[in-house]
Amino acid sequence: MRICSRNCDLARGRRCDHVNSRGIVCCPEESCMLRLCLAVAVSVAAVSAAFSQSDPIAARRDAMRAVSSATRDGAAIAEGRAPFDAAKVRSIFETYSRSAKAMPQLFPEDSRSGGQTRAAARIWEDRPGFTAALAKFDKDAVQAAADSKEVASFRAAFDRVAANCTSCHEAYRTRR
Ligand code: HEC
Repeated sequence: MRICSRNCDLARGRRCDHVNSRGIVCCPEESCMLRLCLAVAVSVAAVSAAFSQSDPIAARRDAMRAVSSATRDGAAIAEGRAPFDAAKVRSIFETYSRSAKAMPQLFPEDSRSGGQTRAAARIWEDRPGFTAALAKFDKDAVQAAADSKEVASFRAAFDRVAANCTSCHEAYRTRR
């Protein structure tokens, strides 16, 4: 199930994979149709609250997929396959921060299993550690955005933030 969020205010036809404050990903797969988004925005608060509570596993996996898609865009810039674009770079790190802020609410007790989750039991056993790892990811993303002046400084900043992916996954995600 996909719900457009309030954030879905981009021009028609543009992809938008925003994660709103409740962890709802806006139209990640299809392009954002403005009309639909506006219609949904009216009741979005109620709908998104219901969505994130009824399916937190889908919401957190969507949040991580938005992070992953932003990372692919970042890698293209870092590797010189795409030009350095300050607005694009900002939006990559904003996607990280948004997801990091949404994630803590998406791991209720009753979501330890099901929905093909790979969340490790340690998330519930060491909640403070997990929350701290997300807060660090958010903080590093904010710092990286500030540090990224051109492609070289972006590359270094991007590498520093990306170290969070591996360290958190090793601790808090099960291996396949
Ligand atoms: C603080 C912890 C944390 C950080 C930081 C983090 N992740 Fe994750 N990630 C998780 C957890 C936990 C899951 C498993 C969620 C589940 O299956 O319920 C996950 C799942 C994923 C998935 C699988 C999504 C799916 O389809 O189920 C991808 C892809 C991913 N992360 C990419 C990234 C990338 C790229 C970064 C860094 C830019 C990153 N993550 C940073 C904790 C983190």
